[in-house]
Amino acid sequence: MTDEKDKGPRQEHSGAGLEKGLTSYGDRDFSLFLRKAFIKGAGYTDDALTRPVIGIVDTGSSFNPCHGNAAQLVDAVKRGVMLAGGLPIDFPTISIHESFAHPTSMYLRNLMSMDTEEMIRAQPMDAVVLIGGCDKTVPAQLMGAASAGVPCIELVTGSMLTGSHQGERVGACTDCRRYWGRYRAEEIDADEIQRVNDQLVASVGTCSVMGTASTMACIAEALGIALPRSASAPAVTADRIRVAEKTGTTAVAMAKSKLTPDRILTPKAFENAIRVLLAIGGSTNGLIHTTAIAGRLGIPIDLARVDEMGRDTPVLVDLKPSGQHYMEDLHRAGGLPTLLRELKSLLHLDALTVTGRTLGEEIDDCGAPFPQGVVRPLSNPIYPQGGIAVLRGNLAPGGAIIKQSAADPKLMRHEGRAVVFESAEDMGRRVDGDDLDVKADDILVLKNIGPKGAPGMPEAGYLPIPKKLARQGVKDMVRISDGRMSGTAAGTVVLHVTPEAAIGGPLAIVRTGDGIRLSVAKRSIELLLGDEEIAARLAALPPREADPEARGYRKLFLTTITQADEGCDFDFLKAARTVATVPGNKP
Ligand code: FES
Repeated sequence: MTDEKDKGPRQEHSGAGLEKGLTSYGDRDFSLFLRKAFIKGAGYTDDALTRPVIGIVDTGSSFNPCHGNAAQLVDAVKRGVMLAGGLPIDFPTISIHESFAHPTSMYLRNLMSMDTEEMIRAQPMDAVVLIGGCDKTVPAQLMGAASAGVPCIELVTGSMLTGSHQGERVGACTDCRRYWGRYRAEEIDADEIQRVNDQLVASVGTCSVMGTASTMACIAEALGIALPRSASAPAVTADRIRVAEKTGTTAVAMAKSKLTPDRILTPKAFENAIRVLLAIGGSTNGLIHTTAIAGRLGIPIDLARVDEMGRDTPVLVDLKPSGQHYMEDLHRAGGLPTLLRELKSLLHLDALTVTGRTLGEEIDDCGAPFPQGVVRPLSNPIYPQGGIAVLRGNLAPGGAIIKQSAADPKLMRHEGRAVVFESAEDMGRRVDGDDLDVKADDILVLKNIGPKGAPGMPEAGYLPIPKKLARQGVKDMVRISDGRMSGTAAGTVVLHVTPEAAIGGPLAIVRTGDGIRLSVAKRSIELLLGDEEIAARLAALPPREADPEARGYRKLFLTTITQADEGCDFDFLKAARTVATVPGNKP
């Protein structure tokens, strides 16, 4: 049956909807004729096929419990699309879960971004809804969609619920690490750690603290590429489903108005996002991912200026690991708009959002403030500066970072003897040995876990406290690496040392017994050796040999991955030209 049977197969092409990106057969009319014939095999009418097509990226996977509500969200997005007169078509892409990705999820982020970009580009859609959540998925989707240039809107899956252990509220994954540390220190036994294991992840959804997933959800909202108040609704709530429905209706409006990502993801939007990253005590990974997304639009992020921005951006959101609460508490406190209202004087309020209105208009529309204990006022922050500080020095000429809001204040200025591990494997073999020569005031150094070194820059930068010290009650030490750490972790951990050891960065020459000085106040990280000794050791480094076994994606990764300060994107995926460097000037 057709409701357009009076129209012949030869028609004017609008170039929109199903007519976008026709398959090449050398005859456009035939291409469209064939495409329609195939999709009609699924029972569509011509009426449906003339509507704006809204693609929905479905990242549901049984290997990804953080996306365990994806099917419900797809349904709700479809409802929203159809309410607005569009035609929803869902399709799969790669899905990545932190704990189900070997060697590390970061190794696959760029692959997911390429999958997302090319599937958006290849298939006919006027706008696309990106359903993501677990750490690397949201950045991968935004990177890919920014490059594809089709109107897009992010919908995060939402956070998981918190659980309870012996009356104490617990959630992934700050409490996972805290309890594991207690188990390693032999404060709790195997039975108790097993019971804790049942409680840490109380439902589907993303980690319940201000880890990387929550950070990227807040960043997406701050960028204006997700709906206002969409970041915080937990995965299993009615609010999350309503957000999904509204995301669908918004996508249709974006398709009609051709609201492309370059109009939303502007330098001002990225400045807003960095401001929010600093004020939420967000994951250090958030900086790498934001840099990678911005890089797709020709917007380099200047780390030195990020640090300057951090000096007048206090941490206001009291969530673990910097504070006390969980994502569901932030939602009850009004969600991200409660923070944005507080930060208003520091934001670019004229930045455009997916609604077609500005961020300022959306903040004004989010209702009056009410008493709550999760988002502090500027006058009473939980930490006086931004969560992330950028360090430099002869150990990290290209920069390194520390999550100062989650570090031990007593270690923020520290000089100590390096105890060096050459690789993650070396650390795994030796760190818990009773014969390890280590004291509580030493500095643990882990090399070769950078973008190329591991490869994939695993979250091994949160080195465990050596067991012999943990048993003595040591909870924190200065730890330095070229890797990353989970956004859910806390401690005096210096990360992203650039350039990494594997490409001959100064980290490669550190030996056990060398002195290292960390001063977060001075933003410095120094290897206490003379310039001549440093130069001699660097010159003596053996050349790194190419991996003879590398092929396929691994070869592509090893030959094109950039360093942390460039977002660890593949060099050929970045935008060809620079638009503007951010942060620029204050609003
Ligand atoms: Fe998926 Fe933490 S493991 S968000």
